[in-house]
Amino acid sequence: MHCIKKITEDLLWVGGNDRRLAMFEGIYSVPYGVSYNAYLLLDEKTVLFDTVDKSVEDRFFENLTESLNGRALDYLVIQHMEPDHSAAIPRLLERYPGITIVCNDKTATFIKQFFDYAASPQFSIVKEGDTLCSGKHTLQFMMAPMVHWPEVMVTYDSTDKILFSADAFGCFGALNGAIFADEVDFAKDYMDDARRYYTNIVGKYGVQTQSLLAKVSPLDVRMICPLHGFVWRKDLPDILSKYALWSSYTPEESGVTIAYASVYGNTENGAEILAARLRDRGVKTVMFDVSVTPASEILSAAFRWSHLVFASTTYNMGIFVSMEALIHDLVAHNIQNRTVGIIENGSWAATSGRLIREQLETCKNITFLDDMLHIKSSLKATQLVEIDAMADALCASMPKAERFS
Ligand code: FEO
Repeated sequence: MHCIKKITEDLLWVGGNDRRLAMFEGIYSVPYGVSYNAYLLLDEKTVLFDTVDKSVEDRFFENLTESLNGRALDYLVIQHMEPDHSAAIPRLLERYPGITIVCNDKTATFIKQFFDYAASPQFSIVKEGDTLCSGKHTLQFMMAPMVHWPEVMVTYDSTDKILFSADAFGCFGALNGAIFADEVDFAKDYMDDARRYYTNIVGKYGVQTQSLLAKVSPLDVRMICPLHGFVWRKDLPDILSKYALWSSYTPEESGVTIAYASVYGNTENGAEILAARLRDRGVKTVMFDVSVTPASEILSAAFRWSHLVFASTTYNMGIFVSMEALIHDLVAHNIQNRTVGIIENGSWAATSGRLIREQLETCKNITFLDDMLHIKSSLKATQLVEIDAMADALCASMPKAERFS
């Protein structure tokens, strides 16, 4: 049975929700599910914006069939070819052989790479700024390469001032009956997952996301329809301002993310004491054991907070494995504009601190504290002064007004 959501008088959500998926893209946990959004515009011509993942394909076709109510499907606008949005294309072409696919030339290439299909649809290849009139609505296409794949484009409906934003402004989490962000407590219940979604999926491509934001900023956008998560019709600055920060690698808040790797608890002890000393100074802290918390969640926290401390034991003459994975992930996602402190542990031939620093030195605008804290097996009372010095140095490098006391 269909499950359709009305967005405007002539725009419908015809996507689906998946709450059984354990790991999105095989990497990111989605304990609250994920939505795959497809939108149908019922104008003089009918226009479908993207399809869905194969997990919700049957529901999508039920929604689409019901929404069309016997009408032909005239256009499929493909904004993104990643299979979580394109898997239903071959079946769609079989069902609607008269359809015209509206896409850019990169997308046309990807379709052939991904799919073998018997139908031979018409293609309308569009470029930056091209428009399509569906009757009452005029749709303008804008390229958004690498937000998140090279073929990505977004669409602006200048009639109703709606931005169909592809992966941008998306969020993990199933919709749970709602469709608009203002129907839920987004800041409390979904912002963390919006951050986790952006930073992990698109975070590497901050420059490209900034270009998209610049392209969109002159437009009168009153609604944003992303491919995952909720539609924004109110409080658009709430999400736009977050994207401005995330894509420019600007911290949202002053505070310290402390990530530690500790085999027997001695490195953890150093991290704990540092966190306590920071709190004594009124500095906000979050802590993660990298062997317990997935790197993707710590990466998201690293995008949120201004300062990072890594505390790692030395392991096989290198960085502890799960810490190494985290550092690799941070570098791969272009983390920058952060102040970093390092705690190194090694009973003999310690290397982890130097190696962490060397990897992070490849990132832009990372300021390292002058002194690294060296633990030899376990922290000694005589080293508390060094912890205090590290806490002081972290504290001194953030504006007092932004601390909580
Ligand atoms: Fe949900 Fe880049 O696709």
